[in-house]
Amino acid sequence: MNENHAKVCTSPEWAEYLQTAVLPTLTRDIDLGDHMLEIGPGPGAATEWLRSRVATLTAIEVDEAAAALLADRYAGGNVEIVAGSADATSYPADSFDAVGCFTMLHHVPTLALQNKILAEALRVLRPGGVLIGSDSLPSTDLHHFHADDTYNPVDPASLLGRLQTVGFEKITVIVDETLKFIAVKPGEPELADAAAQDAA
Ligand SMILES: C[S@@+](CC[C@H](N)C(=O)[O-])C[C@H]1O[C@@H](n2cnc3c(N)ncnc32)[C@H](O)[C@@H]1O
Repeated sequence: MNENHAKVCTSPEWAEYLQTAVLPTLTRDIDLGDHMLEIGPGPGAATEWLRSRVATLTAIEVDEAAAALLADRYAGGNVEIVAGSADATSYPADSFDAVGCFTMLHHVPTLALQNKILAEALRVLRPGGVLIGSDSLPSTDLHHFHADDTYNPVDPASLLGRLQTVGFEKITVIVDETLKFIAVKPGEPELADAAAQDAA
């Protein structure tokens, strides 16, 4: 990330924006479940909001310094920070009830790698689990903001098709002041043993 990001993404204003305008909209009709994976937490504005809404939050961050800072901040709590790239995690399939990625896809240098991250999100979600995400809309200003940094904005018009091609269903793409998306992994959630016996 360049200096512009260092200022904006660590600011209270950015945290307030994510926490009041983006995340509540994305999660309004969503059950995040118990175990969520956050992709690309950066300085942790979304992490801070999400950690009180799930029993366990795992966050995977490719920038080792950012991951180390978050690991220190959340040591001993319900947030596990992992350093690594979200395109190839070591988690078994069906590990998470929800996956989130906020303002990070445009930092992924190629469309192929973005799609790999979306495919990995699908793999690690349990059937019926939900992916929620947001990103900035492409603009000239945003391009300038990313001087000397990776800038590979997500095209809102093709996002639905991309998510569908990866294998998601029940896809919602919202374009307002920012790009938001919700998508579900096909399949029924497994019933817990007791519930399964009740139903039998
Ligand atoms: C602009 S920051 C957004 C941080 C935070 N999600 C937010 O919205 O405030 C993008 C973050 O995604 C991380 N990132 C980029 N590519 C990644 C990848 N392949 N796997 C995991 N994290 C990645 C970057 O290191 C950076 O911390």
